[in-house]
Amino acid sequence: MPLNEQLQARYLQLVEQAFLSGNAVERESALNAVAQLGRSLLPTQVTPVDIVSLHQTALERIAQQQPDWHISEIAGHILVPLLELTSAHSMAYQEMVQAKHDATLAAHREQASRLEALGVLAAGMAHDFNTLLGSISGYAELSHGEMPHGGAGHEYLHQIEVACQRAQSLIRRMLDFAGQRSGPPSRQLLALQVGEALELLHPKLGSRFRLQWSNLMPDAQVIAEEGQIQQIVLNLCINALDAMPHGGLLQVRLQPAAQLAHIPAGHESHAALVVADSGCGMPPEVQARVFEPFFTTKAPQGSGLGLSVVYGIVRRLGGEIILHSQSSGPQTGTTFTVFLPTEAHQTEGG
Ligand SMILES: Nc1ncnc2c1ncn2[C@@H]1O[C@H](COP(=O)(O)OP(=O)(O)OP(=O)(O)O)[C@@H](O)[C@H]1O
Ligand SMILES: [Mg+2]
Repeated sequence: MPLNEQLQARYLQLVEQAFLSGNAVERESALNAVAQLGRSLLPTQVTPVDIVSLHQTALERIAQQQPDWHISEIAGHILVPLLELTSAHSMAYQEMVQAKHDATLAAHREQASRLEALGVLAAGMAHDFNTLLGSISGYAELSHGEMPHGGAGHEYLHQIEVACQRAQSLIRRMLDFAGQRSGPPSRQLLALQVGEALELLHPKLGSRFRLQWSNLMPDAQVIAEEGQIQQIVLNLCINALDAMPHGGLLQVRLQPAAQLAHIPAGHESHAALVVADSGCGMPPEVQARVFEPFFTTKAPQGSGLGLSVVYGIVRRLGGEIILHSQSSGPQTGTTFTVFLPTEAHQTEGG
């Protein structure tokens, strides 16, 4: 972005002051003001090219005013203001990046502890509800024997049983989120699990969706419980399809985390499972809540448990999940990246 005229005029004035002044205090104050100017350039997204051309203009102007000086001598003299300007600008930039990074980290920690508390609550509720449902469905079953043969009562009891089954499956998902329904973990080939989940997804794809599956880590292994990886892939992919009611592109990628631009600290050597769609995306207020159990924008069909289950599994596997989404502009869509710790590949018998 070219610099506005006011900024240009101010820089010229300060460089002239630094160049012409015989007074050390005045020179120092001009240089300080240049540094301040450098910091103030930050929100204007100035590029190094803009700064060089700004400085070039100053050089040419002073050369015109001082015909006795050779241009290379002037260039040497006004190098200090240029250095002040660029280093102040780059320091301010680094500070801004660090502040953004700190804010993201803090938000992440806060979300993690909120979800942990919800997990404890969900697990407690799930156990109580499970007991109640067990008794409702048990009595419904017993009542069949008390009903007159062929009466409508059997159908009503059947409806009670169906509702109980649905409620029990919701409870299983709540327990998945809270990590209370575990089997023995085992070593699994990550790509194989992802491939199997995508096979299950196949009937849902039809001709409206294009699936791109790239596997750059065919040998990566993870320690996980049976079905956990498939559950992650399915929940993410089904959400992706839901977000593309008119069809679109679903990309699933397995690649070393180190190849990505944004890696959460500590996950550099992990595998990254990327699920990206070209769907409607999410506004920031939705992004902030997606991992909460029961948060859904798809009521009444959606239960809002899909992503909380994914979150629960990923955290228990020692991984991390991040989300990038764009809900307006020319390129809408969502990308979930799951970082998972991998085990060293073992040869047979090893
Ligand atoms: N890929 C996506 N694109 C856009 N929005 C998404 C995407 N994935 C999740 N969401 C948003 O996050 C919300 C929560 O997702 P989650 O999977 O937890 O529940 P759900 O899909 O609504 O219900 P279900 O329990 O059936 O999965 C969704 O309702 C939707 O608003
Ligand atoms: Mg879902």
